[in-house]
Amino acid sequence: MEKDQEITADAQVARVFEWRRGFNTIHLIDVGIKSGLVKALAEAPGSTAAELAGKLSLHAPYVETWCRTAYGMEILDADTGPRWRLAPHMDVILANAAHPRYLGGYVRLGTEVAADDFQRCVEALRTGGAKPFQGRGEGFAQAIAESTWGLQVVAAKKLLPELPGLAPRLDAGGAILEVGCGTGNLLLLLAKSFPKARCVGVDIDVDSLAVARGKIEKAGLNARVEARQGTIASSTQPASFDAAVMVEVLHEIAPSARPGVIRDSAAGLKPGGWMLIVDETYPSTLEEMRKPEFKFPLMTGFEEMYWGNVLPTRKEQEELLRDAGLTGPINRSIIGEGFTVLTAQKP
Ligand SMILES: C[S@@+](CC[C@H](N)C(=O)[O-])C[C@H]1O[C@@H](n2cnc3c(N)ncnc32)[C@H](O)[C@@H]1O
Repeated sequence: MEKDQEITADAQVARVFEWRRGFNTIHLIDVGIKSGLVKALAEAPGSTAAELAGKLSLHAPYVETWCRTAYGMEILDADTGPRWRLAPHMDVILANAAHPRYLGGYVRLGTEVAADDFQRCVEALRTGGAKPFQGRGEGFAQAIAESTWGLQVVAAKKLLPELPGLAPRLDAGGAILEVGCGTGNLLLLLAKSFPKARCVGVDIDVDSLAVARGKIEKAGLNARVEARQGTIASSTQPASFDAAVMVEVLHEIAPSARPGVIRDSAAGLKPGGWMLIVDETYPSTLEEMRKPEFKFPLMTGFEEMYWGNVLPTRKEQEELLRDAGLTGPINRSIIGEGFTVLTAQKP
């Protein structure tokens, strides 16, 4: 750790101001997305603030302030005029909800959910109270699904297709289990990536399941895609799946329930079937708490503290897989801003 005398008070003040700028910038982006400014700039780069205000029926002086601030924060670039346009890649990151790099959902989760939860943390620190994921309603479930969209695309299009031997099994009419399927986005992506496979999602959140079932119905996939309510053991047959997938779910499960969920998921696999877990790994030492790859999970641990979530450490993850009978190698990698990818094959 750094020694106190090497750090000036001015430097510490500057850090707090930087974090505060980050807070404002997240709200600036949120306002830009919700008001339509970001989309309008993606569609018509080189617009003046007056043109944007006219197009969207907005108050021109405020649009000017928004554009100038976004330029200062390097969200926008500009030509003389000034004519504003989104900075490189910001069209995809902030205006294209179908793209795996889209972060509008993550921004919204911060402004709409986290901001509110943090206010309740003061009281929660005294009481230990929590407001769990389940029962927060459909809007919350949708915000979660939007913020995990990129991971779901990566799981369906890259991580699963790359697992040795899996694609041929699924092409031959195999089956995938998704544990914690939420609002069903990954189920639909899996059905697309593996057009011959049966896809079964399980979740305990009724609000999410209602959305998932609506999407499956709308996509006309009822014959081979299903979203079931209940535990894995009660809603699936043992040894009937070629893969079991969990995206941002393990840390959402109460620690006492984790061994059962992982054991039942592994029991659902056929021999040679794959378990894929995309989740976050909590740092287990002081040194890890300051390492860049643990910053995102560390913050999730705080952001979701009031949801009652406790993130698993590497040791816990590996014990869960071993205790579930996945005794072969456990493959581990980090993707994006600090998501852990774990894969293990059933002997
Ligand atoms: C953060 S959400 C992720 C949802 C979805 N996989 C996604 O990426 O958007 C976690 C999900 O896990 C579900 N979950 C939590 N505990 C569960 C359990 N014991 N069995 C099945 N699902 C569970 C929650 O209800 C929630 O829908």
